[in-house]
Amino acid sequence: MKNKILVANWKMNLSPDEEISLLKEVANLFKNNKKNIPDLEIIICPSFLALKQAKEVIKELPNFHLGAQNCFWEDKGAYTGEISPLYLKQIGIEFIILGHSERRTYLGEANEMINKKVRACLKNDLCPIICVGETFEEQQEGKRDYTIMHQTSTALEGLQVDESKRILIAYEPVWVIGRGKAVEPEQAEYANRVIQQTAIDCLPLDFVKQKMSFLYGGSIDEENVVSFKEQKTIDGFLVGGASLNPKEFFGIVLKM
Ligand code: 13P
Repeated sequence: MKNKILVANWKMNLSPDEEISLLKEVANLFKNNKKNIPDLEIIICPSFLALKQAKEVIKELPNFHLGAQNCFWEDKGAYTGEISPLYLKQIGIEFIILGHSERRTYLGEANEMINKKVRACLKNDLCPIICVGETFEEQQEGKRDYTIMHQTSTALEGLQVDESKRILIAYEPVWVIGRGKAVEPEQAEYANRVIQQTAIDCLPLDFVKQKMSFLYGGSIDEENVVSFKEQKTIDGFLVGGASLNPKEFFGIVLKM
């Protein structure tokens, strides 16, 4: 049985001080309500600037892990402004969000780059959280399945995996991110099945079944999370806006 997973992507919304205050508030909610908390893996992804301090805050919280919002594909060298997966690993980071649509859109991050980053994460025993999803235009033109299959297969191309590795894939339809209205849960379930089948075409079946998890992201909140969690292929959520409010985030936790 796979763990349920909840990922908080704080993007570039807060200053490092604000991020640490928010994390402390979330930590207090957990410490004070221990009995009611379902068994799940919580992955907090603040900005790079807050990662080291965040590590201290989550030390006493057993289900908490830290993720970065990106990394480079080389471990070290003359790559001005980039962040090394090796050094992220060394400061205790376990997960890396890769290929988020905001990076694809604003930074020109291409599928081939994402594949190199996925390889770099696996080499450094980091778990990639690969984001895939169609834009509004692609959805309108009936290209959703093609887009998510192509993004998934290029991200997973040529990977060497074994049972010590894990990979998470999040279906995030670009057109509902930050909109306050998610897609229908059945649509997310369908897309996750397409993604899972594509993963099976690329990687050994046992690895996909046991070591991969499939998430949904896009306007998840305390209200709608229940109808999504009933879907069979959705193992958890990648949450943006709602994760910035400690009570709302905790409300999602309680409903998982
Ligand atoms: P929202 O939850 O704000 O729609 O953001 C989703 C997202 O982009 C998480 O990575």
